[in-house]
Amino acid sequence: MTVEPLIGDVFGEMLRDALAVATGVGPRPLAGGRLPRPVIEIIERDDGLINGAPAAHYLDGPADWQPYDHRAVDRVEGATLDVGVGAGRVALLLQERGVPVTGLDTSAGALTVCRRRGVRDLVHGTVDAHVADGRSYDTFLLLGNNVGLLEGRERAPVLLAALAALARPGAQVIAQGTDPYGTRDPLHTGYHERNRRRGRLGGQLRLRLRYRELGTEWFDYLVCSPDELAGLVRGTAWRLTDVDDRDAPYYLATLRLTG
Ligand SMILES: C[S@@+](CC[C@H](N)C(=O)[O-])C[C@H]1O[C@@H](n2cnc3c(N)ncnc32)[C@H](O)[C@@H]1O
Repeated sequence: MTVEPLIGDVFGEMLRDALAVATGVGPRPLAGGRLPRPVIEIIERDDGLINGAPAAHYLDGPADWQPYDHRAVDRVEGATLDVGVGAGRVALLLQERGVPVTGLDTSAGALTVCRRRGVRDLVHGTVDAHVADGRSYDTFLLLGNNVGLLEGRERAPVLLAALAALARPGAQVIAQGTDPYGTRDPLHTGYHERNRRRGRLGGQLRLRLRYRELGTEWFDYLVCSPDELAGLVRGTAWRLTDVDDRDAPYYLATLRLTG
């Protein structure tokens, strides 16, 4: 008999264990005996591909960041909403710099980890739901590949409209993405082709995350080129004003509120 994973807060449980391993505080997952087990994020794609990546980097301080993360935080202006704040690595640096920053995440466990690490202003839920709270921001951050939250052609205009509803005049979105189309690996090029045949963007990944006995529901996460991003932004309240691809295939896209 095979058992489907229990649907739960995969990201939160994973970050809680990663924090326990990093700090030595709290119950840690053991590999048997007394050795802490490295905490691995398991990502399943709907073609059967399974990837594992150490979760510890979500806790990294600025010294261990990629150069584009530093350039992203240097572009921050004014009241900032860190969308998909994760373990709060970026929000913590902004706080230290005196930037009024709010971390938003759908994972309750991620927010617990943020709180333990000292992030002060946190919101649990989606950007769409946050609109009703009546707050507004000058900068929205979608870091750690969170261009992915645009999901695809249907969701992108809806998320961008929700961000516009939270935006102050002249607001910006700084979003980090990865251009997926440099690869020659037939596993990936074949996946991109299959997606296109189904009317999806090539890098519109259908994923599920796993941690221990838990899994998420299947969800779309977008890995797109800057040109595809420009297409998704067209016709919304935002204008793509800059693409910094100095660390290609990774890029930082800046969107500005029009009008
Ligand atoms: C890839 S991690 C990036 C974390 C963080 N931005 C960083 O750079 O370390 C994605 C984060 O987005 C959160 N998330 C996923 N879907 C979300 C949604 N619809 N709204 C807000 N946050 C979401 C996840 O719980 C997770 O914390």
